[in-house]
Amino acid sequence: MKLGLENKTALVLGASRGLGAAIAAGLAQEGATVFAAARSVDKIETWANALPQGAGPVMPTQLDLGDLASIDDLCDRLLAKGGVDILINNTGGPPPAAALDASRTDWLAQFETMAANLFHLTGRLLPPMRTKNWGRIITLTSSGVEQPIPRLALSNGIRSAIVGWSKTLAEEVAADGVTVNVLLPGRIHTQRVDELDANAAKRSERSVADVAAASAAGIPVGRYGRPEEFADVAVFLASERASYVTGSKIRVDGGAIRGV
Ligand SMILES: NC(=O)c1ccc[n+]([C@@H]2O[C@H](COP(=O)([O-])OP(=O)(O)OC[C@H]3O[C@@H](n4cnc5c(N)ncnc54)[C@H](OP(=O)(O)O)[C@@H]3O)[C@@H](O)[C@H]2O)c1
Repeated sequence: MKLGLENKTALVLGASRGLGAAIAAGLAQEGATVFAAARSVDKIETWANALPQGAGPVMPTQLDLGDLASIDDLCDRLLAKGGVDILINNTGGPPPAAALDASRTDWLAQFETMAANLFHLTGRLLPPMRTKNWGRIITLTSSGVEQPIPRLALSNGIRSAIVGWSKTLAEEVAADGVTVNVLLPGRIHTQRVDELDANAAKRSERSVADVAAASAAGIPVGRYGRPEEFADVAVFLASERASYVTGSKIRVDGGAIRGV
């Protein structure tokens, strides 16, 4: 299947490691030009330099999603070049917190970085997509929006708001050739997952290996996903071929979410 990404330009957020880096690398390997953004530009340079020959160009791009000026500056620079065709909205995850422990300050700070600033950035980059009658907006959330994860109240709550925003936006721009979807990672093996397992091990006085094994045993596929497996779904959704998929939540979870 030809994905038709060779002449497309993408902005991938949260692209210094984990899922964002895997998606950015996947798009580049399909020939797209990729602006890969995060705070740690050096880490982006490291994975970009290891891409196979023939991959599309990767531009390591400094961005702090907690800083509106940094977001607007990047949008100004991208819009001056005609904007992007593909936007992968990805952020750092919030700290673990029980619903009763998360403070008002926590909610406001995390909502600003994970949601409000993404909504703002998306709104700024949409006009050229609508004019060209082609665009892809893909936002990473979590399996927690369908099956809330204990002790991740901030993630469960804020990401549910993102799903509502994405669905609303999808309808507003569908006739302009722009698709808008959210991805729901289950347990994909990244550094963040290792950090969450280490936290759980500390709390429960078990080894990290025991925590990870118990967690994998709860997934029907029997293992954590690989970042590349997750990225493949994102790359397809970003492609020419996914033109009739919009307003959807797509799970990449090895069957972990128990409801249908
Ligand atoms: N992996 C999973 O199984 C899973 C499951 C459910 C949900 N998720 C969510 O999916 C997202 C990606 O997951 P992941 O495992 O790849 O997480 P990760 O390894 O923690 O990567 C997060 C990325 O976001 C960037 N980032 C963090 N804060 C930022 C900021 N203020 N400005 C700009 N970039 C920022 C980080 O780069 P810098 O630090 O260099 O800025 C990094 O590239 C996270 O929100 C995570 O909670 C993941």
